[in-house]
Amino acid sequence: MTPDLETVTRVLGARKSVRAFLPSPVPRERLAAVFAAAQHAPSWCNTQPWRVVVTEPPKTDVVRDALVTAAKSGLPSPDVPFPLDYPEPYLSHRRACGFALYGAMGIARDDKARRYDAWLRNYQVFDAPHLAVVAVDRRLGPYALIDIGVWLGQLLAAVTAEGLAACSMASIAAYPKVLREHLGFTAELDILFGIALGFEDEASATNQFRTSRAPIDANVTFLG
Ligand SMILES: Cc1cc2nc3c(=O)[nH]c(=O)nc-3n(C[C@H](O)[C@H](O)[C@H](O)COP(=O)(O)O)c2cc1C
Repeated sequence: MTPDLETVTRVLGARKSVRAFLPSPVPRERLAAVFAAAQHAPSWCNTQPWRVVVTEPPKTDVVRDALVTAAKSGLPSPDVPFPLDYPEPYLSHRRACGFALYGAMGIARDDKARRYDAWLRNYQVFDAPHLAVVAVDRRLGPYALIDIGVWLGQLLAAVTAEGLAACSMASIAAYPKVLREHLGFTAELDILFGIALGFEDEASATNQFRTSRAPIDANVTFLG
């Protein structure tokens, strides 16, 4: 059967970043099913460069504690540099997203203490029962990062279609040493981001906001 665009659009439109989770872990078979779906992702010469470690309880708590300690005391040192600067229109998109998120959490713009707590929630993996950490072999160069972005998009669609919830987190890649120590990534791998995974806490205020999108003509040009 050929899948229809309506179904695909429904899944893509329903996906959102979830930043508060229920404590119950996801059965291993359901996790494996969404990673199996994402495995269909295309990649440069079919190199399939995503390298992923998925934690389950109690391992998730061990990594969570180590990340919080690192975030409180360590200087960020990501393997792949984070953006330093956001020229327009990216700065406006970034600000709108931050204000909406803090607004949903009831945090005032000048409330530094609560903003710090909200930032720290990243390292607490938003209390998710699972953390997937994604890495790439740096010898493959920048195109492998595109492959991994494609894979992430497909994984998030599969997560949504399976009734699960996720938040991608580049934040945790600020402390790759901790992730190497606990998750056994080998030296040739650059750590790129994490994905908090679990069941959405639908009652949480944090999960009530949705980001918006520019119309396609902001991003796509058709030339006849
Ligand atoms: C590669 C990547 C890294 C991200 N890192 C973080 C992060 O560290 N913390 C966070 O709260 N959200 C993070 N996000 C989620 C984005 O903020 C979110 O996708 C964006 O605001 C759009 O909102 P939506 O996912 O709800 O549609 C990340 C998303 C991507 C794709």
